Amino acid sequence: MTIKVGDRIPSATLRRMTADGPAEISTEELFGGKRVALFALPGAFTPTCSAKHLPGFVANADALKAKGVDAIACVSVNDAFVMDAWGKDQNVGDTVMMLADGSAEFTRALGLELDLIARGLGVRSQRYSMVVEDGVVAALHVEDGTGMSVSDAETLLGDL
Ligand code: BEZ
Repeated sequence: MTIKVGDRIPSATLRRMTADGPAEISTEELFGGKRVALFALPGAFTPTCSAKHLPGFVANADALKAKGVDAIACVSVNDAFVMDAWGKDQNVGDTVMMLADGSAEFTRALGLELDLIARGLGVRSQRYSMVVEDGVVAALHVEDGTGMSVSDAETLLGDL
């Protein structure tokens, strides 16, 4: 089953880098009582993700926050060390939370996994963006394939 608008985000655990190393963050902690702009992509350091998807959310972070977004989060099926290194490489600072879903637990719970085994990348996440209001999906844009045409920050701004 694939998550859709109106559904509650299922319980899962993600990880993020802290000064003390990788730390868990639950979906309840991430989404509870907040309006969150979440986007996910097939891989850190991959071409479209690095050239367009993540930079678009960094560039539009102030605009998203001006429209009532409390937090912006990026999820990929990578480990927390890779997500941290990618965030630093992209000068994300504290604009976007770089969240690791290394075992695809969150991604599978949403039904948004992407089989890239034949391309040597294993099981990854589909590319998508969503607005989550207190744990419930309020807007959702899922791409068909690895390209980006509907999951960009500007489109998500239009939902707010
Ligand atoms: C990309 O971001 O362009 C990409 C991601 C995963 C596989 C292939 C391409």
